[in-house]
Amino acid sequence: EWAERGAAKIVEEVKDKDTGTVVKKIVSRGIKDFKFGQEIGDGSFSRVLLATSIHNPSEKYAIKVLSKSYLVKQNKVKYVNIEKMALQRLNKLDTVVKMFFTFQDQSSLYFVLEYAPYGDFLSIMKEYGTLSEECTKYYSAQIIDAIEDLHKAGIIHRDIKPENILLDANRRIKLTDFGTAKILEKDEKTGSYDLLTRSKSFVGTAEYVSPELLNDSYTDYKCDIWAFGCILFQMIAGKPPFKASNEYLTFQKVQKLQYAFSAGFPTVIRDLVKRILLKQPEKRLEIKDIKTHMFYNDVDFKTIWLMEPPVIQ
Ligand code: ADE
Repeated sequence: EWAERGAAKIVEEVKDKDTGTVVKKIVSRGIKDFKFGQEIGDGSFSRVLLATSIHNPSEKYAIKVLSKSYLVKQNKVKYVNIEKMALQRLNKLDTVVKMFFTFQDQSSLYFVLEYAPYGDFLSIMKEYGTLSEECTKYYSAQIIDAIEDLHKAGIIHRDIKPENILLDANRRIKLTDFGTAKILEKDEKTGSYDLLTRSKSFVGTAEYVSPELLNDSYTDYKCDIWAFGCILFQMIAGKPPFKASNEYLTFQKVQKLQYAFSAGFPTVIRDLVKRILLKQPEKRLEIKDIKTHMFYNDVDFKTIWLMEPPVIQ
């Protein structure tokens, strides 16, 4: 159920001109509060527009616009609700794009998101082709740390790819696009999210259930780790490990684990990629093992978020 109707009510801190004291005021925010600019992204059923606040033109936002009639026609309403729920849960994380509020009008739903001025990683990869080992280390370390954050919060992204990795004002990565995420429920006993237990969506009868149905969800979170392996490969090679002229042929390559390292591919990264791109999810490295792999020997996963990013090359 879409909670807000029309404009969003948000709490804003305003300074009283006469007394100088800061008071909290409840204000309404809707389409009239923004000046919309160029399109900065598009999804299968949404567009992302750059917008500035009418009240403060230095405030920039990325507003995701979703057409209601299109969502209903294409049966995609579910995904919008998942995205909103996931972003709400993740709002305290610095590794995920912030969602400030949402509103709607007759025709559309609007997500007011943090604007990441350095764009997405796909554009970076297109511009530079390949990345240096130093850049690969810095950005891949942030990406795996961000995925760990998500999993700890009980969210599996399920569509990790360069387009969904943005660079913020400090050129640090932020994950976005949670429309296909899986949201786990808290384990009542332990108070944490258990990535290994099946969520309550199980349908079927135990006696007739196939092994892969049990297995697949058992290791559901491992798909994010697989995607990380593909991105890591791509940073060095300049193209993803499994790529063919069409989707069908790409799927075949994935199933046959048909990929090859180029001659100059650094040995340490080669070793890490090989331990991630394994068909059997249970054999794939866990995030904690990736973070302690030799490639990240000289990386402190706390300070990478504070240090000056390397020049992209
Ligand atoms: N493209 C898609 N979402 C974006 C965002 N939040 N900031 C910048 N570019 C984007």
